[in-house]
This record gives sequence, structure tokens and C-alpha cells, in this order.
Amino acid sequence: MLDDRVLRVLARLEAEDAAEREAGLPAGQRARQVEPTTGRFLFALAAAQAGIEVLEIGGSRGYSTIWLAAGARVLGGRVVSLELDPAKCAAWRTNVADAGLEEWTDLVEGDAHATLAATEDVFDLVFLDAEKDDYEALFTLARPLLEPGGLVVADNVLSHAEALGAYSAARQADSALSSVTVPLDRGLELTVVLGPGP
Ligand SMILES: C[S@@+](CC[C@H](N)C(=O)[O-])C[C@H]1O[C@@H](n2cnc3c(N)ncnc32)[C@H](O)[C@@H]1O
Repeated sequence: MLDDRVLRVLARLEAEDAAEREAGLPAGQRARQVEPTTGRFLFALAAAQAGIEVLEIGGSRGYSTIWLAAGARVLGGRVVSLELDPAKCAAWRTNVADAGLEEWTDLVEGDAHATLAATEDVFDLVFLDAEKDDYEALFTLARPLLEPGGLVVADNVLSHAEALGAYSAARQADSALSSVTVPLDRGLELTVVLGPGP
């Protein structure tokens, strides 16, 4: 549920993100978190399926993880979040604990390329929000972890259309997938797996 504890942490992270942007900090020092409406959309997706297994690629300080985990908590489920930056990982742990969501989450520290190559777990929902140049490779690594009915949500496809237009086009051209660009906030590519991959 979106209880007071969760909402308080989300509000604090939104204020911190706004202050970082206002101060003009370089991207690497900011949380670079999703918009609140995108967070609410992720919450809805995660809450819609009992026992949902969620994979998040690019956890940062936990803002989107908290939305996803609060959703997964509704009918039971879990979120595995991948994050490279040690300082972000430390903040992620603090924020997820403050929100009371440790029980529904796991953080895997390190490069998502290596983590994904080494996992055989199956996921129902993948949220892709790492470096734009890596989306194609990360999707390719995540694809075998999805069965028909699995969903991939990729952020920033409209805000970074130059870098990510090819990502959307490739998903929309694949007959084993159904994919649509949803013009919410920075643009989400919503892809459902219909059949086995290549
Ligand atoms: C846009 S931010 C994610 C924001 C987060 N989803 C949120 O809304 O709160 C991207 C994050 O991906 C992480 N990242 C980038 N490349 C990565 C990689 N190869 N493996 C794991 N994490 C990576 C960055 O350190 C950064 O924290």
C-alpha cells in the first residue's frame, strides 16, 4: 500500500531531487529519478499481479524501487534492483528501509551487464532505467529472463529520442513482442513478450 511511511520517503526524495536540479549538480551526482506520475504508473503495474517478480535495472537511491516495491507488496511479490554506484547503493538501502519495504526488495550491487548474464531467474516485469547507450545490450540480456506475458518498461524514450529511438523501433518491429511508446513524462516504451525470443 501507499501508506504514510512510503509517502513520506517519496516526498523527501522528490524534494532532494528538486534541490539537486536547482543547484545544477552534474547528472552523476543526482538521483536522476523518475517523475512521480511514472512512479505511480510503475506502482500500478506491480500491484496488478499476485506474486509479481520485478527486475529494476538502475535503482539509483531507490525512488522508483519504492514505488515498485509498494506495488509488489499489495498482492505479494518482490523487486530485485541492480545498481552500480556504491554511494547510490548505500542511499538505496537507507531509503528502502525508511519506507519499510526491505522485506519486498533485494539490491544487487555491481554492473547490471554482469549480473544479468549470471542470473537464470524469471521476471514478470522489468523496469529499464540505466544509461541510454546500454539499453539495447541490457534488453538483450534481460530478454531470456522473460516468459510470454512478461513486460518491459523502458524510461526516457521521448526525452532521449535521439539515443533511444532505435530501441523503440527495434521492439516495435519484433513480431515476438508487442510494443508501444506511452507519452507519459519522459516517455515509456512498454513492451510485452508474446512468444519465445531469437
Ligand atoms: C536514471 S538513474 C535511475 C533512477 C531510478 N530508476 C529512479 O527512478 O529512482 C540510472 C542509474 O543507473 C545506474 N547504472 C548505470 N549503468 C549501470 C550498470 N551498467 N549497472 C548497474 N547500474 C547502472 C546509475 O548509477 C544510476 O544510478
